[in-house]
Amino acid sequence: MEFYGRKVLVTGAAGGIGGAVVAAFRAGGAHVAVADRNVDEIEAEARLPGDLTESSYVDSLPDRAAELLGGLDIVVNNAGVITRGAVTETSDADWALSLAVNVEAPFRICRAAIPIMAARDGGAIVNVASCWGLRPGPNHAAYCMTKAALASLTQCMGMDHAHQGIRINAVCPNEVNTPMLRSGFAKRGYDPDNAVAQLGRTVPLGRIAEPSDIADVILFLASDAARYMCGALVEVNGGKAVA
Ligand SMILES: NC(=O)c1ccc[n+]([C@@H]2O[C@H](COP(=O)([O-])OP(=O)(O)OC[C@H]3O[C@@H](n4cnc5c(N)ncnc54)[C@H](O)[C@@H]3O)[C@@H](O)[C@H]2O)c1
Repeated sequence: MEFYGRKVLVTGAAGGIGGAVVAAFRAGGAHVAVADRNVDEIEAEARLPGDLTESSYVDSLPDRAAELLGGLDIVVNNAGVITRGAVTETSDADWALSLAVNVEAPFRICRAAIPIMAARDGGAIVNVASCWGLRPGPNHAAYCMTKAALASLTQCMGMDHAHQGIRINAVCPNEVNTPMLRSGFAKRGYDPDNAVAQLGRTVPLGRIAEPSDIADVILFLASDAARYMCGALVEVNGGKAVA
């Protein structure tokens, strides 16, 4: 896809999906500002290291990206954390972290990015939610709730800011082969490669998603090919619905 000269901010850029998104935008000619806790190793036009639980850092990201890149056309709110367990197993810290990274950070970034985009020729924001935010899976109550909140926020913002030429949509993946998923298997004592292969057998397409499968849909939503899409929640699941 062609993004020649477009200015892009990607959060969670050091992660599985984030890394694929950054590489794909740059391959399409975009100028990319990357945000994550550690961005030293990432090839990008601008690096913005920091912690998304710190509101002053989050609030400043769109402005700083625009300053360093010379504008801001596209934002991908991709960073996320997963906490496991039912509500009765969810600590105050899990609750606060889930809300801060998965909901509050995208809210703050959108709130700051929208006026910047509105003052130019509009723009596009893609939020990374989850199909678990559309239909909940078991034993991840806080995670599912935050992704449902992000999905709802996306639908609201998609309506509210279309008149400014800003399209806001979300991608909702099912399982993706990234450190988020693999570290969960490792923590529970499974070999990640075996577990990923086994999980793939539960997907009608025969495998779980690779980061590039999700990145391609994110780039589509950010591109002019999606010019009439606002507030859409796009499931990318290989045919596997949430049970
Ligand atoms: N992997 C899956 O199966 C799956 C499924 C559905 C949705 N998602 C969503 O996709 C997105 C990307 O996840 P991924 O699978 O690539 O995971 P990942 O763990 O590989 O990447 C997440 C990135 O977010 C960053 N991040 C987390 N907390 C942060 C903080 N406080 N400050 C700064 N950066 C922070 C991490 O450092 C990491 O680089 C997430 O929003 C996740 O919820 C993933």
